[in-house]
Amino acid sequence: MRTMRSFITLAAVFTSSAAGARAPARFARAASRVAARPMMAARTALIAGNWKMNTVLPEALKLAAAVKDASVGAPGDVAICVPFPFLESVSKVLAGSKVGLGAQDCSEADKGAFTGAVSTGMLQSVGCAYVLTGHSERRSIFGESDALINLKTKKVLSAGLKCILCVGELKEQREDGTTDKVVAAQLAAGLKDVSEEQLGSIVIAYEPVWAIGTGLTATPEQAQDTHAAIRKWVQGAYSAAAADRLVIQYGGSVTPETVDELMACPDIDGALVGGASLVADKFARIVNFKA
Ligand code: 13P
Repeated sequence: MRTMRSFITLAAVFTSSAAGARAPARFARAASRVAARPMMAARTALIAGNWKMNTVLPEALKLAAAVKDASVGAPGDVAICVPFPFLESVSKVLAGSKVGLGAQDCSEADKGAFTGAVSTGMLQSVGCAYVLTGHSERRSIFGESDALINLKTKKVLSAGLKCILCVGELKEQREDGTTDKVVAAQLAAGLKDVSEEQLGSIVIAYEPVWAIGTGLTATPEQAQDTHAAIRKWVQGAYSAAAADRLVIQYGGSVTPETVDELMACPDIDGALVGGASLVADKFARIVNFKA
């Protein structure tokens, strides 16, 4: 059973039974950090692992089986974004579990002479539910532009898959104080021509580039501030209801030691986990974050 992640304010007297089922301590703590929340938001947390270019087949199968077991009582949704060659075999391991299968990239084209590329149709045919777009490694190492990321995002959505669109600033940009501006520009470009209805299939992953693979996790305050700015941007670009519904993950050196405090923040609805998702025990603890 999925547990709804809810944030309680004064308006929470109108809370749903799902929200009411949650332990109040976390939300009381989270709610104390926001001045006024006009309505109650109920969002299901999503913890996703991004294996990047790691594992060989036997390792992938073992790790997937461990994630499946660890996720049985997890408080939110769980997904793993695995290398292309292992998608189909991992899909079989995950069958009947709550763990969603994700890919780390896709082509913006449907089919044809694109040597080495992988289409959304291919991903669907092997059981994928999620696709990452705009990861900072695709941006910096593979030179993906905002325009290309937008094409890929729209391709994922039009295929009926869920898209985890990644955004995040460089170290210099955080130091310059331009984080919100950089992230807003990435959102505007990545979500160009994405309708409010389609936004329902989008998860935003805020991944500060300086925190990825460095062991430098953003503080809960830094992450919360940027997540709130992202939600505010979505409110302006779409609507308050769309902003309220949007699941925003934090990514960047998330560990079992940092996940609970991050997840206690009112606008942090999940985590996108790299290194720690490759270690079964660590990822098991992260998916079972303490609310
Ligand atoms: P790390 O958790 O290794 O920092 O990676 C984060 C990331 O890039 C997930 O997409």
